[in-house]
Amino acid sequence: MKKAYVSLVMAICLLTMMIAGCGKQPVNKSESKIRIGVTVYDQYDTFIGQLVECFVAFQSDDVEIAVYNAAQSQQTQNSQVKKMIEDGFDVICVNLVDRTDPTTVIDAARKADVPIIFFNRELVEGDIGRWDKLFYVGANAEESGVMEGELAAWACITHKELDKNRDGVIQFVVLEGEAGHQDAIVRTEASVNTLKKQGVEIDKLGYAIANWNRAQAQTKTTQFIEDYGDDIELILSNNDDMALGAIDAYEAMAIPRNKWPAVVGIDGTDVGLEAVRDDKMLGTVYNDKEGQATAMFDLARVLAGGGSIEELSDKYAIENGRYIRLPYAKVTSSNIIRFMGK
Ligand code: GAL
Repeated sequence: MKKAYVSLVMAICLLTMMIAGCGKQPVNKSESKIRIGVTVYDQYDTFIGQLVECFVAFQSDDVEIAVYNAAQSQQTQNSQVKKMIEDGFDVICVNLVDRTDPTTVIDAARKADVPIIFFNRELVEGDIGRWDKLFYVGANAEESGVMEGELAAWACITHKELDKNRDGVIQFVVLEGEAGHQDAIVRTEASVNTLKKQGVEIDKLGYAIANWNRAQAQTKTTQFIEDYGDDIELILSNNDDMALGAIDAYEAMAIPRNKWPAVVGIDGTDVGLEAVRDDKMLGTVYNDKEGQATAMFDLARVLAGGGSIEELSDKYAIENGRYIRLPYAKVTSSNIIRFMGK
């Protein structure tokens, strides 16, 4: 037990050092200091890692930020939230492991009167309504799916050679994130519907769940290639890491570039943007991690001071007094310069 606790603390220190930049000295707590705790569902998720990196950059002499990794366990996350409450954090930011199971987190926070900002993994409306100090910062999943569909439709309409077998129909496969995640269900549906609405004839060959993960996506795509070979003309991926996994599969099987399907992702992670720049990915949809981190921080600061979310209404569109959603943006090689090195 003691050993497990020590390794947890070490892991947290390591993560904090990694993301805050090594060498940063701990600051002494002063009366006016704001203390913000964060727990993420999985520190190895590329997009989450980069979002947290942006958030931790707000650390200063007046602001302490501690980050915990729940390592895909809701139980671990519940304990982390309870520990942060005991340790006197003013606000806690929670990237739920299981978005349908926030009860323990909500009950503990409510009992101690500590506001919670959920982020990225959206809890259901009924749960956010259970207490007036619960908030959500994220984005509109449907918007990202629509944009992904628009990028794919534009490519299919303007690059007729994408229809490799010239049958007038685009054969495609989908790489999906976690089952039950709003960004997986909604993105898939919206991107496919958008392609149809834009007049592209499509035929879905298959789909696979790859849990946002590059290696899993490579395995699933290798299987698709074995099953459908050259018939695959388009790969719609729910995120960039899985799109990159698909590309890894084509590269590992030494399939020449001119035989690859068009691959579209979502996130605009550093590696995702590089793949668009290098013409491996057709495009991506920018998931505004800087904007989300800033909104989380602005809100945490207001709440820590006992203020209301409405104080931020000049800067953000606030939905139902609880939600802040940052807009997505389409990225292709023609506007990538605006996004690289953000
Ligand atoms: C999505 C993002 C994915 C993954 C997921 C985790 O918004 O596009 O890459 O990070 O969140 O919840």
